[in-house]
Amino acid sequence: MDLIYYPNPLLRKKNRDLTPDDGNLPEKIRQMFEIMYRNKGVGLAAPQVGWNVRLFIANPEGGGAEREKVFVNPRIVSSSGSVSEAEGCLSFPGLYITVNRGLEVDVEYRDADFKTHRETFNGFMARIVQHEYDHLEGILMIHRISQAEKVRNKRLLDELEERYAS
Ligand code: CO
Repeated sequence: MDLIYYPNPLLRKKNRDLTPDDGNLPEKIRQMFEIMYRNKGVGLAAPQVGWNVRLFIANPEGGGAEREKVFVNPRIVSSSGSVSEAEGCLSFPGLYITVNRGLEVDVEYRDADFKTHRETFNGFMARIVQHEYDHLEGILMIHRISQAEKVRNKRLLDELEERYAS
């Protein structure tokens, strides 16, 4: 399991729901947290490690087991408010763009034991949840970027495309 980068097509593939029969879930989740921490991230979606399932992990502190969250088959039930802030993505090293997101989101999800939860998130955690949820829908930062920001970041995006091609 390894981090993959834009424009790897696995980031755009359809992601299937997980079932309790999916083997080795705890081990795979542990590996994902390791990859996320090693790369100094606060969220990581399964397709970013080439695994096309509806799962993402988050830790707004960037470390420490007590703030770790696992979202299996999540669904954003509702969203309210809006806020524009800069964000990055481990699959786009070096890219930081301003993205408009809901201020508060209501999410239904299962944990690693397939227990169902419904929880409201706001602030930074709401931003992480919406960013990672986008990954499960095959939506990347490049799809949230304004034309002006695309022009401003063209060199970096070209570099990522060249690196993938070679
Ligand atoms: Co991302």
